[in-house]
Amino acid sequence: MNEDKCSRKLTIVGAGAVGTSAAQWAASRTVAESIVLVDVVEGIPQGKALDLAQASPLLDFSSVLTGTNNYADTADSDVVIIAAGLARKPGMTRDDLLEKNIRIIRSVTNEIVRYSPYACLIVVTNPIDAMVYSVFKESGFPKQRIIGMAGVLDSARYRTFIAHALGVSPSDVTALVMGIHGDNMLPLTRLASVGGVPLEDLLSREEIEKIILRTQHGGAEIVQHLKTGSAFSTPGLAAVEMAQSILQNQMRVLPCAAYLEGEFGISGVFLGVPVVLGRNGIERILEFELTPEERTALATSVEAVRKQVAAIGI
Ligand code: LAC
Repeated sequence: MNEDKCSRKLTIVGAGAVGTSAAQWAASRTVAESIVLVDVVEGIPQGKALDLAQASPLLDFSSVLTGTNNYADTADSDVVIIAAGLARKPGMTRDDLLEKNIRIIRSVTNEIVRYSPYACLIVVTNPIDAMVYSVFKESGFPKQRIIGMAGVLDSARYRTFIAHALGVSPSDVTALVMGIHGDNMLPLTRLASVGGVPLEDLLSREEIEKIILRTQHGGAEIVQHLKTGSAFSTPGLAAVEMAQSILQNQMRVLPCAAYLEGEFGISGVFLGVPVVLGRNGIERILEFELTPEERTALATSVEAVRKQVAAIGI
């Protein structure tokens, strides 16, 4: 980390839809003094960064934005959001992206490690739970500095659907989604609350089941609408929410894919769990007692992640 400097540097790899959205949110929140957007395609990161920089007088931010094809410009980043790679099209699962994205992720990781050996890496590229594992292995970074984005997005979707069902402000809905970023994710009902009132006292089992199903397929629902790509606004913001907590040492409690070594009785995989994010990346994992049903559901998630990881042959 840039401890001795007062400036903070955020790099976003991939000037596609998610990377561009992340750059916008990061600039609008001034999460870092310097924001670098890097991509292999010539002109795209430069054009997007310049366009965004011109919003600074209107949005009142002072971050310096740089668009580049050269990783040397990303040197000494404190946080790197990796959003490079292909997105889903209708009919595709996240797993269908595995082969193409793994190659991209490996080369990106090598460049990042070379120029920013002390950075925290936030992985957004799908399928996230396998990609984050690959970045962990490829980088050789300590597990605290490798974090997968998914739980923040999935929990935001869950909270939104709960709020809509009850006609209340989404800000007052607290809810946690754990596990894989896929159909087997685990939106926890027992711990969901609305202004402190248990969700289970406010909605019927059937209504909650419908919300859970919609959350689990939240990404696919958007792909169905867009046809040419997948969600980008909230995925970009979710990554920035995590980056901000690290850059500003906020110690936010956010669900993220973390490398587990015995927590929740699980070892050797990245899985969505509640973590505290601060200056060092994952400061700690918040472990708690799961019910037998929740444990079974989480085991299904673990199995799906292990299958993804086995498919990339790590
Ligand atoms: C989604 C993509 C980012 O869930 O996986 O929309």
